[in-house]
This record gives sequence, structure tokens and C-alpha cells, in this order.
Amino acid sequence: MQIRPARPVDGDRLVTLRHALWPDGAIEEHAGELAAFFDGEAREPLEILVAESADGTLHGFCELSIRAYAEGCRTDRVGYLEGWYVCPADRGGGVGRALVAAGEAWARHQGCTEFGSDAEADNQVSIEAHRALGFSDAGLIRCFRKDL
Ligand SMILES: CC(C)(COP(=O)(O)OP(=O)(O)OC[C@H]1O[C@@H](n2cnc3c(N)ncnc32)[C@H](O)[C@@H]1OP(=O)(O)O)[C@@H](O)C(=O)NCCC(=O)NCCS
Repeated sequence: MQIRPARPVDGDRLVTLRHALWPDGAIEEHAGELAAFFDGEAREPLEILVAESADGTLHGFCELSIRAYAEGCRTDRVGYLEGWYVCPADRGGGVGRALVAAGEAWARHQGCTEFGSDAEADNQVSIEAHRALGFSDAGLIRCFRKDL
């Protein structure tokens, strides 16, 4: 399994993976966001990494940004795991770990000394996986919004 930066040619397959992780977004929205990313016009993510096997199949991806503020962090330039997904059939085999390790290396290369992430409060698998990868709990918050 190779972890490498996403390329425009990955677009269609990445749309499918993104939609599996974030099903609330329509296929067209994901396609539009990826097109903006590959055109260099997206504010975030700053990087997308994919896990690819020798036959060219994509088994997962992660999206990365740098946040000026992240819960529990001390620095104002925090490498951040914005999205993290491994295809169901490939889980439990180290692909997620490899994606995060590559994400951390990317963040270090960007000059970051901290790495942050988050998970839905009821996503127990993600919470356990984060802990297994060395993340410590940085707090639990409720989010709110209203139209202005
Ligand atoms: C979270 C996710 C990316 C992990 O990918 P993965 O390839 O299964 O992860 P790995 O096999 O590399 O496991 C990484 C660590 O997490 C732990 N882990 C993985 N799945 C777990 C589970 N179901 N229960 C408990 N711990 C688990 C492993 O024990 C492993 O630690 P170890 O190497 O010390 O054994 C994957 O489960 C997934 O895509 N889930 C759905 C999308 C999602 O929730 N993404 C996170 C959003 S915040």
C-alpha cells in the first residue's frame, strides 16, 4: 500500500470515497470541491493523501489543513486531520494508521509541531482509533449556529 498525494486523475474515485465519508454532501458538491482543490482554488484542504495498492485501487484517503486554532493546542499553526476514511473491506489492516503517519509527516514538513483532529461524539471506532494512534483527548464541545 502506497500513501501518496492525490492527483487530478483520482478525481472520480475520490468523489466516491468522500461521499462515503460525508454522505450529506451531494456527489456534485464533492466533485466541485475536488475540482477547486486540484485547481489550487480551495482554501482547504491544503493536501489530500490517498492509499493506493499496486493495482491502482484507492483504499482510503485523508484530508489535511493547518488551523490557526485547534482545541487543546498551544500553537497557532496546527496540522489538522480534516477527513480520514478507509473503505470498509480494508479496515483494521493498518491503512488508517499509514494515512495518519503520512499526514503527520506532511504537517511536520509544513513547520507544525502539533497535530489535531476531531470525531463525532458517538463515533466510537474513530475515537478508539485516534487514541490508538497517540492522540489524547482535547475536549468535548457542542456546536451551534443560526442564520444572520
Ligand atoms: C477510522 C478509520 C479511518 C480507521 O482506519 P483503519 O484502516 O481501520 O485503521 P487501522 O487499521 O490503521 O487502525 C489504526 C488503529 O486504530 C485502532 N482501531 C481501528 N479500528 C478499530 C475499531 N473498530 N475498534 C477499536 N480500535 C480500532 C486499531 O487498533 C489501530 O491501532 P493498532 O495499530 O495499535 O492496532 C476507519 O475505521 C474508517 O474509515 N471509519 C469510517 C470513517 C470515520 O469514522 N473516519 C473518522 C472520522 S473522524
